[in-house]
Amino acid sequence: MYKIIPVRPFDLALFGATGDLAKRQIFPALYRRFQVGQMPPGARILGLGRSQLGSDEFRNTVCQAIREHVSESMRDRSSVDGFLKLVDYISLDATKTDDWRLLASRLDDTRIRAFYLSVRPGIFGSIISNLKGHQIVNDGSRIVVEKPFGHDLKSAMQLNAVLASVFDETQVFRIDHYLGKETVQNLMALRFANVLFEPLWNSQYVDHVQITVAEKIGVSGRGEYYQRAGALRDMVQNHLMQLLCLVAMEPPAKFLPDAVRDEKLKVIRALEAVEHGNIVRGQYKAGPETASFAEDIGDATSETESFVALKCHVRNWRWAGTPFYLRTGKRLRCRMSEIAVAFKDPPHSIFGDRSKLKGNVLAVRLQPDEGIDMRLTIKEPGPGGMRLIDVPLDMSFARTLAVGSEHLINAYERLIMDVIRGDQTLFMRGDEIEAAWAWTDDVINIWAEYDSRPIRYFPGSSGPDDALMLLHRDNRRWREIS
Ligand code: BG6
Repeated sequence: MYKIIPVRPFDLALFGATGDLAKRQIFPALYRRFQVGQMPPGARILGLGRSQLGSDEFRNTVCQAIREHVSESMRDRSSVDGFLKLVDYISLDATKTDDWRLLASRLDDTRIRAFYLSVRPGIFGSIISNLKGHQIVNDGSRIVVEKPFGHDLKSAMQLNAVLASVFDETQVFRIDHYLGKETVQNLMALRFANVLFEPLWNSQYVDHVQITVAEKIGVSGRGEYYQRAGALRDMVQNHLMQLLCLVAMEPPAKFLPDAVRDEKLKVIRALEAVEHGNIVRGQYKAGPETASFAEDIGDATSETESFVALKCHVRNWRWAGTPFYLRTGKRLRCRMSEIAVAFKDPPHSIFGDRSKLKGNVLAVRLQPDEGIDMRLTIKEPGPGGMRLIDVPLDMSFARTLAVGSEHLINAYERLIMDVIRGDQTLFMRGDEIEAAWAWTDDVINIWAEYDSRPIRYFPGSSGPDDALMLLHRDNRRWREIS
């Protein structure tokens, strides 16, 4: 098992404490950190929301969330009771000074203080100015901001300005939960703690890179947000962009927040604007048992995309000539996310034509069954000459490290503890987000210019055929979504 280093006592004030994210991710993650002994008994979690709830009533909803979202093997009665003792609730009406005073009176100056905004961005400004106005922010405070961080470059810049009016950048933790995923961090370990790949990690040896984040679920229940966002804003601008950065970045001198983020920023700035012919937008149709995207969001005329595939280039010395193919979508065949680095074919076969040699592929699987898989060519066992076969060198983290997948730390657990520790390495800096939006805005402008509309695709498929063509015409193929 991994080592647990307890964090220092803290007060965490969670805005949006009765919301869906709090129930699905934040409270279960906090509970799990408590259960394994990382959270000190003196920690306090203060839920804040508009609903008029008593403390016990709120604790009941937290208890229910734990029951629904934490595996049974981690839910023992005394841990749940112990955790609930740390939790309290204030119903907060942002317009009432007394409510803010009450919040101020509940925070302790000797502890780390974290404000977590799990609310829609439209009210960030009012919360932040109230925190300042009521002198609730101190020098040791941290602020955690959930996505969506803006809708475009302009709105992201406005949000950054609001944050900067009260907090120093070293106090701001913008969450992209993909950075907290175990395998995503492993990508950095793989690249920068081993000498094996680095000499090959460039356009001389890498034919192309594929990044796929496929989901089986649709958008029902989140229609209002998704109709405005679409897959490009919801997934590509943040999660896929971050994955691309970790594949493409130069080794930072140290594994320190700004050193890592400086390198990621350089990648985003080196990303070339995508050409219209290199982007495919899709929208899922109805299936035998599932509603169409338009039905899910309640707008029959919607031209929002639930799928995007694109080809892009990082124009720098290391990557010039190596395409990066990105795709993400909902209602696809299954849930599968991976980064695949496809190396070039060997330049010459000493085995003659019989055995066409294929390039190696290194696949980093984010989910499900997190791990790393490397395709190697070996001789097929047995007599009868030299026949070559491709075999996997397959490492599942759960199997190799002998831990059940429920014991692998999840993204929110890692990220929330990093906030308390004050470690920003896995959080996005303001300039990084702005650069990512600048690139995304270009794609949106191209769609507007060409009046691009999403192509309908079948649920359970791997997206529109045009996405397959994006690679076929380059003599390449997507990896199976399976
Ligand atoms: C969120 C998106 O950020 O990530 C969702 O808003 C998406 O639309 C989710 O479903 C995917 O996260 P995960 O961890 O399930 O891959």
